[in-house]
Amino acid sequence: MKEIESNKHSWSQISEDHYYAFKARFKEGTQFFNYYIKRELGDITGKDIIHLQCNTGADTILLAQMGAEHVTGVDLVPENIYYAKKLASDLNVTNVDFFESDIMTLSQKYNKKHDMVFTSEGALVWLPDMEVWAKTVRSLLNDTGYLYVFDSHPFFLMLDEEKLDKQIYDIKYPYFKKTPDFDTTIGGYASERKGLNTRLFNVVDCYNHVISYYNEPFN
Ligand SMILES: C[S@@+](CC[C@H](N)C(=O)[O-])C[C@H]1O[C@@H](n2cnc3c(N)ncnc32)[C@H](O)[C@@H]1O
Repeated sequence: MKEIESNKHSWSQISEDHYYAFKARFKEGTQFFNYYIKRELGDITGKDIIHLQCNTGADTILLAQMGAEHVTGVDLVPENIYYAKKLASDLNVTNVDFFESDIMTLSQKYNKKHDMVFTSEGALVWLPDMEVWAKTVRSLLNDTGYLYVFDSHPFFLMLDEEKLDKQIYDIKYPYFKKTPDFDTTIGGYASERKGLNTRLFNVVDCYNHVISYYNEPFN
């Protein structure tokens, strides 16, 4: 799919920056999960986890450091996998492994089962088909396994992004879109934002049923 290829290229352009940024945060002791994720995850000791859309492995490593028996990170971008392995090796974290795959085709080539599927923060919006995603998640879980997802609700994606900084919540985009949004930049949370073409998909299919039960503001 041309959008996925385009996104793959865009993400590859910030892999190295992410590696250095996450490595610095681990060294400073400032790489951690936010309050909500920590609280919701609870005790993951001994769990075998698969982390979808792991980027350069920072959260995969955090899960491993929190006591998971083993964590497998999967991402579309070969450069992300390269840097994820390098980060784990730099930090002497051995109970992780990483491999490259498009989530949309993962179930065709991977049949291992896990105790938990983990995915978070800006992941689902990159995927074109939530039904394929949900079936893939199920195929990755053993019978007592569960999915943990922490991500933006699609309602948020309807808001005018240019006004959000001023805390103005104007609806700009339709909820049910048939075509992906087009963005001209990528990154910004662990790298400079770079001017590249990316496609963000409509994710409302089933994702709109996943609603956080916390009412506290997210910081
Ligand atoms: C915003 S990041 C995920 C955030 C993650 N929590 C982190 O630590 O950076 C989105 C990730 O999704 C990956 N991605 C995008 N489309 C994908 C696809 N079709 N299959 C697998 N990974 C994909 C990108 O390569 C990128 O690493």
